[in-house]
Amino acid sequence: MGGAVPPYGALTLVLVVLMGCTRDVAVAPMITDQDPTPVELQLPAGVLAAVGDPLLPADNPLTAQGIALGRALFYEKALSDDLTLSCGSCHVQANAFADPRAFSEGTDGSIGTRNAMPLVNLAWSAKLFWDGRVQGLEAQAHDPVTNPVEMRNTWPVVESRLNADATYRQRFRAAFGTEQIDSTLVTRALAQFVRSLVSFDSPFDRYWYGGDSTAMSEEAQNGLSLFTSQGKCAGCHAPGLFTDHALRNNGLDVVLSDAGFGAVTGDPADMGKFKVPTLRNIAVTAPYMHDARFATLEQVLNHYNGGVHMASPNVDLLMDFWGMNPTPFSADEINDLSAFLNALTDASFLTDPALAQP
Ligand code: HEC
Ligand code: HEC
Repeated sequence: MGGAVPPYGALTLVLVVLMGCTRDVAVAPMITDQDPTPVELQLPAGVLAAVGDPLLPADNPLTAQGIALGRALFYEKALSDDLTLSCGSCHVQANAFADPRAFSEGTDGSIGTRNAMPLVNLAWSAKLFWDGRVQGLEAQAHDPVTNPVEMRNTWPVVESRLNADATYRQRFRAAFGTEQIDSTLVTRALAQFVRSLVSFDSPFDRYWYGGDSTAMSEEAQNGLSLFTSQGKCAGCHAPGLFTDHALRNNGLDVVLSDAGFGAVTGDPADMGKFKVPTLRNIAVTAPYMHDARFATLEQVLNHYNGGVHMASPNVDLLMDFWGMNPTPFSADEINDLSAFLNALTDASFLTDPALAQP
């Protein structure tokens, strides 16, 4: 693992130096490596001001070659022990890269205990997984390959399979300047692809950032104002990412069966806290919550309208509102909230061929 990655262009430099000895001989055109092409995430006007700069690690800049390689690896079944699972098997584009199944199945059919999360705008997300146990997408991408309920593989096996493939060697050289494929570079490429999964083209975006007052129905506009004011939803699911990146308890249970962040830190004050998920594309990412307990958005809204357990350990202060007014919404208001949540679907993201299996 690891190993210093030569700075981009180092190979070119070496070739130029070697070729320097042959100055009197007419040489065939040199095959040199181009530096990978830098890529910037494209955000609609107004969005950058709302969401701030993405988190881009200095040692893994986004490049066209890196993202394209990461995309190939994301759909590469050779990452799993028996060549049957890719990342894309559990993270399905039409579902905003979430898994429509409650719990994903590993290569041996074993079942996890948490719902696979959507992969949306994670370039802005430092802590990953429902329990926030991993920092950064590079570190995250190590997990599924060796996870015993997911790909059940070992890194030496993945590395030897990829190193045996001339096309992959060439693509790693184009992206990272070396043909020595190791887990560090595989996870860097995967992280680049996941970082490129940006979604800011929903009716809400056209209404809010684009100034198109017709982009959302009147119900959805009412839902937006409930969401940001009376509903207090925006206190945690803050626009424009619709998450504040924090770990919080929204009052699902009095007795916890999964301690979430608390199991990671061991701190009693963290028990029952989970990552606040983005609500972008929420209409297509059912089932909901870390344990997939709700099949529909209607059930989620019923939780927030009468189902919140104020006796849940470490229940969030922002949920106090529910303590004082346990059923804050009328039937019409629930309809409006639902219309608003449905206006967060970015159809172009769900069907963009550039994100599909190559
Ligand atoms: C067997 C199904 C399965 C496979 C294969 C799989 N994942 Fe996941 N993924 C999950 C589940 C389940 C979670 C949530 C787990 C948890 O929170 O404990 C998750 C969470 C994530 C997250 C965290 C998202 C967030 O908002 O914090 C990322 C990123 C991710 N997966 C990327 C990948 C990548 C990249 C691959 C391939 C290397 C991959 N996954 C393969 C099921 C899968
Ligand atoms: C105190 C912070 C907080 C507030 C306020 C809040 N939520 Fe949540 N929300 C969360 C957390 C945390 C989760 C994930 C909980 C889990 O899975 O354990 C969540 C999950 C959800 C989900 C499911 C997401 C998924 O991918 O499974 C939806 C939908 C949702 N909230 C909508 C709302 C709406 C609508 C409101 C306002 C009525 C609201 N939330 C208010 C913190 C909050």
